[in-house]
Amino acid sequence: MPFDRSIKIAPSILSADFANFGAEIRAIEAEGADWVHVDVMDGHFVPNLTFGPMAVKAFRPHVTTVMDVHLMIAPVDPYIDAYAEAGADVLTAHVEAGPHIHRTLQAIRGAGMKAGVALNPGTPADAVAHLLDLADLVCVMTVNPGFGGQKFIDMTGKVRRLREMIGDRPVHIEIDGGVDVTTAPLVAAAGADVLVAGSAVFRGGSVERPEVYGANIRAIRAAAGV
Ligand code: DX5
Ligand code: ZN
Repeated sequence: MPFDRSIKIAPSILSADFANFGAEIRAIEAEGADWVHVDVMDGHFVPNLTFGPMAVKAFRPHVTTVMDVHLMIAPVDPYIDAYAEAGADVLTAHVEAGPHIHRTLQAIRGAGMKAGVALNPGTPADAVAHLLDLADLVCVMTVNPGFGGQKFIDMTGKVRRLREMIGDRPVHIEIDGGVDVTTAPLVAAAGADVLVAGSAVFRGGSVERPEVYGANIRAIRAAAGV
């Protein structure tokens, strides 16, 4: 996975048809997705429950780009090997998920994946100040995690601060929550390069009408200035 800071659109399959994940993943990739964002929720760290390593492993053969696995679970460490075995390319843990995020990021890289660290809206950028040589991605939540289709919370100040802190390091800044044609330009201008979008990509489309996914992805990319 070579590092570059070009804008990447990562549709979140949380907004896909849960009865048809394989076809949905193939459809968004054929329609221009750069990465595939997979939201793992445990009903504990967040008030919702989605899927675990077995489902993620079943998604893997359908993903030809980058499988970007966002863990909204606590604890994280007992599951790292299972997600490596499931084929995650990027595994992201929340800094709020436990007291040992430094060890968690080391373990994620140690298991052969790219390590991501996520920040809830209430957590300041400085929470990752000592983690930027261990992380390959910082995910800035622009909603309180747990659901798709929520209203965007402006975190552009935090994104700019992170952009400064990261400097020349090969670390992606990912934005997650409420990304659409209105908010994409704001976060791209602030320095983000990975834009997660669930409802804004899947809205109005289906595996029978994938061209709608394509139009939505292109519209977000254009709004981000690409
Ligand atoms: C929320 C998830 C997001 C969500 C984004 O907790 O982490 O990835 O699916 O969905 P939208 O783009 O609809 O806000
Ligand atoms: Zn997510």
